[in-house]
Amino acid sequence: MFSIDHLGIAVKSLEQAKQFYQSMGLEVRFEEVSEREKVRLAMLPIGESRIELLEPTSDDSAVAKFLAKRGEGLHHVALHVENLPAMVEKMKKAGTRFISEEIKIGAGGHAYVFIHPASTGGVLLELVSEPAKG
Ligand code: CO
Repeated sequence: MFSIDHLGIAVKSLEQAKQFYQSMGLEVRFEEVSEREKVRLAMLPIGESRIELLEPTSDDSAVAKFLAKRGEGLHHVALHVENLPAMVEKMKKAGTRFISEEIKIGAGGHAYVFIHPASTGGVLLELVSEPAKG
């Protein structure tokens, strides 16, 4: 049911980070700018999972704040779930703290929410699913 959809890594320079992973032989599947999250991102497939490189496009983006506070590094872990609305309902009832309980749609078309690190053992956890399934 679950799989690791991607690992989100906050970087100062997307170009530089891409160069490193490309030098390992990984390929950039796509790049996009998320206006909502205020990031420029690149997805690099690794088997059935992916690395998501995130560079802030604005000083008030969550990723910019993360970089200022913690520096570059692992920003979030994203789990793929079958039925996102059902999962969110279940976790709300369990008292889980979300960054926002509203399910959002990314530019790639997938649905996502973020669970606050306070609920997960210190990791910002993203849950994602295909819109058709969610
Ligand atoms: Co992500």
